[in-house]
Amino acid sequence: MCGIVGGIAQRNVVPILLEGLKRLEYRGYDSAGMAVIHNHEIYRKRELGKVKGLEALLQADPISGHIGIAHTRWATHGKPSTQNAHPHICRNKVTVVHNGIIENHEQLRSQQLERGYEFTSQTDTEVIVHQIYDALESTNDFVGAVKQAVAKLEGAYALGILSTGHPDTLVACRKGSPLVIGVGIGEYFIASDVAALLPVTQRFIFLEDGDIAAIGINDLVIYDKDDNIVSRPIKDSQLTAEAAEKGEYRHYMLKEIYEQPFAISQTLEGRFINNRLQENAFGFNAPDIFDNTKAILILACGTSYHAGLVARYWLEELARVPCSIEVASEFRYRNPVLAPDTLVVTISQSGETADTLAALQEAKKLGAKHSLTICNVPESSLVRESDLVLMTRAGPEIGVASTKAFTTQLVTLMLLVIAMGRRFQLSDIMEAKLTSELFALPGKIEKVLRLDNEIKVLSEQFADKEHALFLGRGTHYPIAMEGALKLKEISYIHAEAYPAGELKHGPLALIDADMPVITVAPNNSLLEKLKSNMQEVSARGGQLIVFMDETLSSSPDSNVQILKIPQVDNEISPIVYTVPLQLLSYHVAVLKGTDVDQPRNLAKSVTVE
Ligand code: AGP
Repeated sequence: MCGIVGGIAQRNVVPILLEGLKRLEYRGYDSAGMAVIHNHEIYRKRELGKVKGLEALLQADPISGHIGIAHTRWATHGKPSTQNAHPHICRNKVTVVHNGIIENHEQLRSQQLERGYEFTSQTDTEVIVHQIYDALESTNDFVGAVKQAVAKLEGAYALGILSTGHPDTLVACRKGSPLVIGVGIGEYFIASDVAALLPVTQRFIFLEDGDIAAIGINDLVIYDKDDNIVSRPIKDSQLTAEAAEKGEYRHYMLKEIYEQPFAISQTLEGRFINNRLQENAFGFNAPDIFDNTKAILILACGTSYHAGLVARYWLEELARVPCSIEVASEFRYRNPVLAPDTLVVTISQSGETADTLAALQEAKKLGAKHSLTICNVPESSLVRESDLVLMTRAGPEIGVASTKAFTTQLVTLMLLVIAMGRRFQLSDIMEAKLTSELFALPGKIEKVLRLDNEIKVLSEQFADKEHALFLGRGTHYPIAMEGALKLKEISYIHAEAYPAGELKHGPLALIDADMPVITVAPNNSLLEKLKSNMQEVSARGGQLIVFMDETLSSSPDSNVQILKIPQVDNEISPIVYTVPLQLLSYHVAVLKGTDVDQPRNLAKSVTVE
């Protein structure tokens, strides 16, 4: 949600901020804007739509400055428009970019209206810039004014702030929304995500909740939430600027689908010695925590929630570990009961999903003693707030539709199944089987990727459809859910997933020739049941598209199209069957001409409620 970038340097920061915005665009792409201070004046450019619109504006009418802030927006308060685009300005003196939501903005707005402030947007952000201006009326201390102003804010924010009265200082602060400082040589930058700054630095300071930073060209002072001056460590990022680039691929999503074999190898790398999972991969105290765990509760959203659903089947079926799972946004508000000695497991690509973070905090309030996060972003909020961490190591995922993050989440969850299973009912034989299946996985996925052309041909049948049903059973039901989410997310085709056995309890009424039914049909103990469910569809004139194990025979039927998937072991098969569904959605979206990497209305990192 919304991307922030800012900088202070000897050189003109405009091209750096523009490149940063392009790299942050996955966080929001409703509008983009930039402001610099030059000769004690604010120069601002804003444009509706993507960063390329802002770029064109800057080419036509350039601005330059040694200090600046910029923003790409995902609208929450106020529609996407130039007026609502950031940076916002108060009386030509203070300008602000904001990520997050100010919950008491209405109350602050009416107070400020009474004090004569004018509003030019419908955003919650505008109250921040007025509040800071107001504080600066009674002090010349820029940081002090920001401290006073943010003390009045309720909600979540990451802010970049400039003041014409203090043209050599960039102030940055965060509470509930991420913000990093990029440390260059004789220059500093700020951003919502390290990816924005990789072309200029690989050294980062991760601000903590409540931190306020006063950034000069050669000096940096950070105040913590209790107003103490603190020193935060500088960390070297292992990421390269190229890792977040599209390369030869037409879309990030396709690149990320194809990266899965490598990403999975990375996820497994170094976590086994002599084919034995090393539990300290989860953290040095993991064995003790696992010893004392009697049940697992998984909290996540979206695709990450689907990964958790698969894990619940695995944990209970393979390891006999009691496991429950809940969508984070529901858990946080329903006052649930937590069983004693429950390990709370959060799953998140970004590590910044507001609902998941809040659900973890809620679980802690309810007495959860230990938490584990499965996450793709080091130093993210979930990583910092969890006792144990298992990184997915998928590398930067830029496409809004999650692909490699999901399959690597499943791999790490299988590692959890092994670790917990040792304490419950996973036999040594099964542990060895799961381990060898995991190591065979990259090769299996390579084989599925070779079906890309066939899947592309299959996708042609969808481009004119408005609805689709996805069916699966057991661990493949969440895979069907994930397939449906991918399709609706990037092609805007309405898609629903059902456990195949549930079809006759209602959704069968929807079946006709215009409702394609995509079925995930691996060769497992539920196959015969699934075949009966497919018959139910076929008998009613429904069009079936079946992803089926290559070893199975199929009788010709004009209503049924079959795509044969390389034979795969039962336990690991949900990971393999995910890939053709990703490719299917991708090709449908390309045919429909939608914006694959930045689908309408969505953003990658959902840092608001
Ligand atoms: C998946 O394609 C989505 N973009 C979305 O459902 C995502 O998985 C969800 O917002 C959770 O994000 P997280 O993994 O970063 O917590």
